[in-house]
Amino acid sequence: MRAQEALDGWAGRPAVSLGEVGSTQAEARRLADAGVPEGSVVRAEHQTLGRGRLGRRWLDEPGTALLVSIVLRPPVDFSRLPQLSLVAGVALAQAVREASGLAVGVEWPNDLLIRGRKVAGILAESHDSADGAVVILGIGLNVNQTRLPRELAGRATSLAAEAGHAFDREQLLRTLVDHLERWYRRWVREGFAPVREAWRGLSETLGRPVVNDRGEAGIAEDLGEDGALVVRTERGGRARWVAGDARPADAPGRAS
Ligand code: BTN
Repeated sequence: MRAQEALDGWAGRPAVSLGEVGSTQAEARRLADAGVPEGSVVRAEHQTLGRGRLGRRWLDEPGTALLVSIVLRPPVDFSRLPQLSLVAGVALAQAVREASGLAVGVEWPNDLLIRGRKVAGILAESHDSADGAVVILGIGLNVNQTRLPRELAGRATSLAAEAGHAFDREQLLRTLVDHLERWYRRWVREGFAPVREAWRGLSETLGRPVVNDRGEAGIAEDLGEDGALVVRTERGGRARWVAGDARPADAPGRAS
């Protein structure tokens, strides 16, 4: 009973806690197809096929991370759905700051960084249903890992590695779900403006040289009113990046 209480989705919605799965995204999609309400949460202790953005893998060490997928049925226009990753980034950053005291920032579009290293990633996958768009919002947060995969050395970190002690993942999840629910409802009700303001305050991207996955480079100037990254290009013009990555121009590539 206690465990179930601690694991509730938002506003008392169902939560499912699993051991080893392929991907919580696939499990949540199955539940969404079966009609679970918005705010239902799926988490797992380990993923064998964890997926990241842009076809990348998401690696975890069993029993140490938060691996979570949340079913959303946003009652907004389809064109606003890409903003959800930024909504989740703000909520996750605020939750981690509150729970750990660590100085976490957001990198466009939706990575969380501590001292320039990736500590969390967000994957929003949407599909149509008879009742409108469904989004499976996936969050991977490195919590208690003390050893990160060699291929991620120097590019990824965990809360424990940064703070020097382990964290209670149940409490972190509760804090995360609370923040996410609050920011999501606010975004539905008030639009993107409050999210944009909060994101700018947490940004690790603005004011820095960036390069995208098409090799275009410039200085990240602002977050647009729709969530696009506004970039002053090397030729002095302005570009709006709406998808893909924007990594620091001097970094070899962000961990995923
Ligand atoms: C990224 O940074 O590329 C996004 C990573 C998202 C990882 C999470 S872990 C929980 C959920 N299940 C998955 O397979 N992926 C997301």
